[in-house]
Amino acid sequence: MAARYNAETKTFILETAHSSYMMKVSRYGNLLHMYYGSRIPDEDLDYLLTFSDRGFSPNPYEAGNDRTFSLDFLPQEFSGSRSGDYRSPSLELVWGEGGSAFGGKVAGYEIRKGACRIDGMPGLWAEPQEQAETLTICLADPVSKVEAELSYTVFAEKDVIARSVKLVNRGKDVVRLEKLMSATIDFRDSDYDLIYFSGRHTMEREFRRIAAADGVHAIGSSRGASSHQYNPFAIVCEKDCGEDRGQCWGISLVYSGGFLIEAERDQYKQLRLNAGLNPSGFSFLVEPGGDFQAPQAVLAWSDQGFTGLSHIYHRIFRENLCRSPFRKKMRPVLLNSWEAAYFDFDDEKILAIAREAADLGVELFVLDDGWFGKRDDDVSGLGDWTVNQEKLKIGISELSRQIHEMGMQFGIWVEPEMVSEDSDLYRKHPDWCLREPGRPPVRGRYQLALDLSRRDVCEYLIEAMNSLLESAHIEYVKWDMNRSLAEAWSALLGTGRQGEVLHRYVLGLYYVMDQVILKHPDVLFCGCCGGGGRFDPAMLYYQPQIWCSDNTDAVNRLKIQYGTSFAYPVSSMEAHVSVCPNHITGRTVPFGTRGIVAMDGIFGYELDPLKMTEEEKDACRKQIQFYKKYYKVIVDGDYYRLASPYENPYFTAWQQVSQDKKKSLVSIVITDREGNDAQRFVRLKGLLEDGYYRIEGLKGKYSGKLLMSAGIPVPGSLGEYEGIQLVLKMA
Ligand code: DGJ
Repeated sequence: MAARYNAETKTFILETAHSSYMMKVSRYGNLLHMYYGSRIPDEDLDYLLTFSDRGFSPNPYEAGNDRTFSLDFLPQEFSGSRSGDYRSPSLELVWGEGGSAFGGKVAGYEIRKGACRIDGMPGLWAEPQEQAETLTICLADPVSKVEAELSYTVFAEKDVIARSVKLVNRGKDVVRLEKLMSATIDFRDSDYDLIYFSGRHTMEREFRRIAAADGVHAIGSSRGASSHQYNPFAIVCEKDCGEDRGQCWGISLVYSGGFLIEAERDQYKQLRLNAGLNPSGFSFLVEPGGDFQAPQAVLAWSDQGFTGLSHIYHRIFRENLCRSPFRKKMRPVLLNSWEAAYFDFDDEKILAIAREAADLGVELFVLDDGWFGKRDDDVSGLGDWTVNQEKLKIGISELSRQIHEMGMQFGIWVEPEMVSEDSDLYRKHPDWCLREPGRPPVRGRYQLALDLSRRDVCEYLIEAMNSLLESAHIEYVKWDMNRSLAEAWSALLGTGRQGEVLHRYVLGLYYVMDQVILKHPDVLFCGCCGGGGRFDPAMLYYQPQIWCSDNTDAVNRLKIQYGTSFAYPVSSMEAHVSVCPNHITGRTVPFGTRGIVAMDGIFGYELDPLKMTEEEKDACRKQIQFYKKYYKVIVDGDYYRLASPYENPYFTAWQQVSQDKKKSLVSIVITDREGNDAQRFVRLKGLLEDGYYRIEGLKGKYSGKLLMSAGIPVPGSLGEYEGIQLVLKMA
């Protein structure tokens, strides 16, 4: 059994193939965190708890004269505020006449098959339900009558534990919730590093590693989206943990709005990790009899270094997250019109681009921004989801028909959550956007955000999107969002409830996505938020792929995709070949390398094929054939980072290995050259030690053991920014 309770030792035990997670009920009923790490036998872990009289660390009343029992020191599973634990808590609330303490004690538990349902929000699912088991522990506070239901869904075979919390108000007073973390993990020590992924628009998810230090180190977002700036994923690891060895713990929040991940090293050199909704500016009224559901946090542990951890996340996100049937289907190679035409097109130009794309072997043509309303630039039109007939005289349906006639599928861009002031929608419903009364709104890219905390706005969007999808043969939708939210004020929520707006916005978005995306299982949806500003597991629940970044510079993409790969599988990252000099950075990189880098994801193009040279067109045809031939290895294979763009100044390399380990693709891109250069080698990974492999284009065959120990030479003939793909096949 993946989850059980040992009544003798009062221990809850969660077991996966390689890890154990243990909690214990203290002699006073508190739930203590005992262990998360390598799988261990069911033993009494009492000896790990040490007790001593610690100055200025208070004691709960029920401990009587025992000054050695303090919640300020003991590792906890869920920490209530004002309980004598001064570390950053899991819960902050106000109830009754202003009470803010929570003294939750274990009041019961339940173990059942299947995954925990996260009300109104995405989460991992188990089908068949035998894939998972859920333990729910109820912590009840007898005074406020508030209960915290902690849920732990164990995907034993996949080495994953998904946690969440539901706060239930069984009292007579309204409870104002101010902080609720989805998961708290108390480590007994703190000699660890923290890894997180930070960045900015056009440079997302850069790898950052810092030592855990005294105080709180927090990452998060208050932008209404998970953000370009910090991804809702973090790793705690041993100091000597690297790609292939060492212990590491991952935490990933299945949420697309403001979040917080904080790591606190306390006075006793213990480390607390919290992850959940961002409490800043948040408050939520929970009525008597009501409840509040926190999003899910996905935990994983590995002693096989970051590769081991990534493999766990890649697998669970590929198999138990996305609801779209496309998670298992081969995705079409696409060409997107954005960098080809921006807003400057009409139907003739689009059809000419499409014709050329079809001739190159492109399978899906995507019409990006600018096709609707009065949208000739980014100042107007958002909200009016009907065709701009001045630009597209033939209309969307006919355009799609003609594109299908060319042998391609047709896709379209939308940005449903936004409105331009210059739009019919805004003129009709000026109160439908987020803004504070009496103040001019804060604009982002000239646009305002619709108030998705309102049901009427959501219903309008559902109707608008569903009619668009029914109006033409559309097989792909790029769902964009191009600004950070600023104001959190809704015209429909009264005073006292405005702290709920940003979370209600996210719930509204999920509702709309449920009603649009999940109602169209035949349409492939791609997430986008000015590139990768909402690259999170909750979006992957709806959309199997996300536009990784607006930055298509292949050299910058090495870093962006490297960082993204720690939590997210290749199947989730959309990556395109674009023109040079690159529109964002001005850099020129060979066409071949642009293809190699874009094949580290769901492959496509973002350029005007009419402007390509014959040589580029030839290369393009070959790239598409190559990608399709090795699609299964690239997208479904196990992913290995071979050389980091942060640590290796000379080259970046990565590798995919098919599930049966018989095929592999190694990609190398040179990032710097020196005169009279050294011969460099790259060690391969994931091969069968005693299998023999041929490397296409080279003579002989070599054992997996040799290739993984001695490596292969990085071809010295490659100049700066040149790259190579090596195909390995078992002999
Ligand atoms: C931002 C996206 O990331 C781009 O690819 C493009 O779709 C633009 N928005 C269109 O406005």
